Amino acid sequence: MADKKRILVTSALPYANGPLHLGHLAGAYLTADLYVRYKRLVGDDVVYICGSDEHGVPITIAAEKEGVSPQDIVDRYHEMNKKVFEDFGISFDYYGRTSSKVHHQTSQEIFTHLNEKGFFRKKTEQQLYDAKSDMFLPDRYVKGTCPNCSFPEAYGDQCENCGTSLSPTELINPISALSGEVPELKETEHWYMPLGDVQPKFEKWLETREGWKPNVMGQVKSWLKDGLSDRAATRDLSWGVPVPLDEAQGKVLYVWFDAPIGYISATKEWAQKQGNPDAWKKYWQDQETELYHFIGKDNIVFHCIMFPIVLMEHGDYVLPKNVPANEFLNLEGKKLSTSRGWAVWLHEYLEDFEPDLLRYALGSTLPESKDSDFSWKDFQARVNNELAAVLGNFVNRSLTFTDKFADGKVPELVDPTETDSEALGSIVKQKKKVTAAFEAFRFKEAISESINLARAGNKYFTETEPWKTRNENPQACNNTLYVSLQICAALSMLMEPVLPASMKKLRNQLKVAEGLSWDEINDFMLTSGTDVEVGEVLFNKVEDSDIEKQIQKLEERAETNDPVSKFPKLKENIGFEDFMKLDLRAGQILSAEKIKKSDKLLKLQVDLGLEKRTIVSGIAKHVDIDSLKGQKVCVVANLAPKKLMGVESQGMILMAEDAEGNLKFAETTAEAGSTIT
Ligand code: 2FM
Ligand code: ZN
Repeated sequence: MADKKRILVTSALPYANGPLHLGHLAGAYLTADLYVRYKRLVGDDVVYICGSDEHGVPITIAAEKEGVSPQDIVDRYHEMNKKVFEDFGISFDYYGRTSSKVHHQTSQEIFTHLNEKGFFRKKTEQQLYDAKSDMFLPDRYVKGTCPNCSFPEAYGDQCENCGTSLSPTELINPISALSGEVPELKETEHWYMPLGDVQPKFEKWLETREGWKPNVMGQVKSWLKDGLSDRAATRDLSWGVPVPLDEAQGKVLYVWFDAPIGYISATKEWAQKQGNPDAWKKYWQDQETELYHFIGKDNIVFHCIMFPIVLMEHGDYVLPKNVPANEFLNLEGKKLSTSRGWAVWLHEYLEDFEPDLLRYALGSTLPESKDSDFSWKDFQARVNNELAAVLGNFVNRSLTFTDKFADGKVPELVDPTETDSEALGSIVKQKKKVTAAFEAFRFKEAISESINLARAGNKYFTETEPWKTRNENPQACNNTLYVSLQICAALSMLMEPVLPASMKKLRNQLKVAEGLSWDEINDFMLTSGTDVEVGEVLFNKVEDSDIEKQIQKLEERAETNDPVSKFPKLKENIGFEDFMKLDLRAGQILSAEKIKKSDKLLKLQVDLGLEKRTIVSGIAKHVDIDSLKGQKVCVVANLAPKKLMGVESQGMILMAEDAEGNLKFAETTAEAGSTIT
């Protein structure tokens, strides 16, 4: 065996702000797991690290939406996501979290070291500030129109429509995501990473990288072409790793500064768990280590430019050998969107199907060099036509024939024909192709070349007709079974990375020892005379009804999440005369007070131009009572008076209700008393 390599593999730390979906798996986790499982079989010293990204605006926004604390959110999703990864066989050596003490310390140490080296540039700048919420609005706290593509819902850090990276002040017509108010500009001080200054040095390093995928290198080069600019490493937020400087009270590290450091801190925690606390150093500080970051394409700039520059300027760390980022996965021909309900949640998938089926189907259509599409029909076809009809069928016929006609034992190979030898030879031939594909991060090819071996086996089985030779020429039948079983044994190892659970079952059936290495995959893995077992069928077919159920679920979910259908259906038409019965007037609130013993009702005095009215309105939870004076409103002026909590209400104020039940005034600019028609 060639020298053992030391390999450190990371998968992007997913935000612990929601459950994981198909896009996650296809982007950064399945590919890394395929690679790691392959490398472990090769015998390299592999450590595979991941964990939850628990800081940043995505977390605090999720918490605010639910009315719980950020800690509640990350605790919930950290556990949930960790379990889903385990259930899918994603074989992390350690799954950490960035709220851990070790992580906070490590991030602060790295920041301090860089600061002492004079890396950061301290700058005072004008930033968007929400006076109502008394808060600066970094990243996703502000929305507005994208200056690049005019998409009206772009975030302060990125436009999800065109992918452009933005800063909040670049947005046209910015609006606070917290209060809906137009933000003002206010001065604040931050520590910036002067990426542009380091660009020439970084470019030299980049030239030494080999074998980077064109889609990754292309994106990196395009960032470099535009020239790198300063990026703030700090934020005015309360949730995150506090900036370790007295003069930076109330500031935290930018989430994209601390999150990648999470790989280092999780490795430290892994080492502690091994009972060898210093073991992490070998992986991060010995230049012999090969470091690979597996990510989705939206993370390229951070992993291929920003984090390497941080590590380079720090000086003590290993830089990535490769960053085999994937492109995006679409779903049924449309862009995945969690907010619009267009997603397949991994925990829900597991209620209906085995993890290996998705590993295979997704592995066969990974967005390796360009965006790809997942469809349930394709999933069904992959399972039925490839896993069940090719691999499962080949294994099953080889084992049942052996059971029936060879006494359940691996027969002897005697005087093989050219066809036998050729089939046997396909093991090593395919292994070479699979190995080359894994080495080059071409996982789709590794999977398809593996299943091609089962295809070749099936073809050989059919051509040599053991159902005939068992009577006419029993040794020929034995030879077919010998060759077929050797192919099955090789498959049980070659396909272990993609089908870990099913290939373990197959190895048990064939009595292939656990712990064999990639080197030991060959055409004589099974010894003649070994008992083999016909076990349960490896893959059951997926029925049309199973698929229809999934498609229906997806469509129903999309309908209910669709912003258009979030609102109640329109009522039946009414006649004009019905409308004319209403006397709608513009009014202006003169005063407001709470009604005792009610947490909903307010007693309002409203100027209706011609007269003043007392109106009781159930809006206490939706408005700021102190700011109601002067508010212009629309009033139903001829509604029969009604007593509410002992107060007579002489009309109704019109409110608009959004899909979440929030009430806002239906405002008017008209003079009080004007009729609304
Ligand atoms: O895009 C994301 O989901 C980020 N949470 C990925 C972070 S990767 C790393 F830097 F930790
Ligand atoms: Zn845009």
